[in-house]
Amino acid sequence: MSLTATATESDRETELKTVPGPILLLGAPGSGKGTQAKELVKLWGIPQISTGDLLRSNVSQGTELGKTAKEIMQRGELVPDTLVNEMVAVRLKQPDTAAGYMLDGFPRTLPQAAWLDGRLASQPQCLPVVAVSIHVDYNQLLRRITGRRNCPVCQTIYNIYSKPPKVSGFCDVEGAALVQRADDTEQVFAERMRAYEAQTAPVVEHYRASGRFAEVDGDRPIAEIAAGIVSAVERLRKQA
Ligand code: AP5
Ligand code: MG
Repeated sequence: MSLTATATESDRETELKTVPGPILLLGAPGSGKGTQAKELVKLWGIPQISTGDLLRSNVSQGTELGKTAKEIMQRGELVPDTLVNEMVAVRLKQPDTAAGYMLDGFPRTLPQAAWLDGRLASQPQCLPVVAVSIHVDYNQLLRRITGRRNCPVCQTIYNIYSKPPKVSGFCDVEGAALVQRADDTEQVFAERMRAYEAQTAPVVEHYRASGRFAEVDGDRPIAEIAAGIVSAVERLRKQA
């Protein structure tokens, strides 16, 4: 994977030597957490764990969790902590998380952060968590959310403005008809932003205070942001 147009082979070798460990991708709705996680999976080979994707999968499968989560998500509010923590606990037991993982959209409240911190503290063999927050302005976020389209088969993320598929409305990889998320409307976005400011912004401050934290400018080309996240994680791992 080429992270930057100018990266040398030796730069890439250094990047690939990073032991990723647990990484949190924080940021407002539409800031690019999912897009970046998918880029970094290719580089680091550790899984993306998106609580939004896990919840949507529960909704489409009609599980008890999905039945509870569906309306909450459609309103743009947050699903109760205990349910989300339990879902993450189950996912973290899978063996592909041994070398690390990227949590995308979790933790999103201070109680979720306390739960995760407690869990990691009880596993002293684990590397400490590092958190990267992706910053994008409100108007840009709104444009990204309303322009987003997803492949229902391979989950590739497109955008009609910034990352259109080769054939309008269809996935480049699968050829499947692209879909729009039920919560990607201007009205629900406003509610998601309210939830972000009230409940998730304090989580960002919590990890900023921990010292193992970096903020990256998310209003740049995707590869540049990915390179910025890689160098931030490298730096934080050296000091951890
Ligand atoms: P979730 O699915 O996590 O949604 P979110 O946080 O609102 O974030 P998004 O997935 O909308 O955006 P993203 O940052 O991943 O951006 P993306 O890469 O797609 O959560 C959904 C709901 O589930 C929540 O509202 C809540 O109800 C529930 N939930 C989830 N986790 C929970 C938790 N922990 N606790 C409680 N409830 C929880 O990019 C967006 C668009 O921008 C795309 O079209 C993309 O192509 C484009 N784009 C990306 N990067 C760039 C770039 N650099 N330049 C131009 N365009 C770009
Ligand atoms: Mg996402």
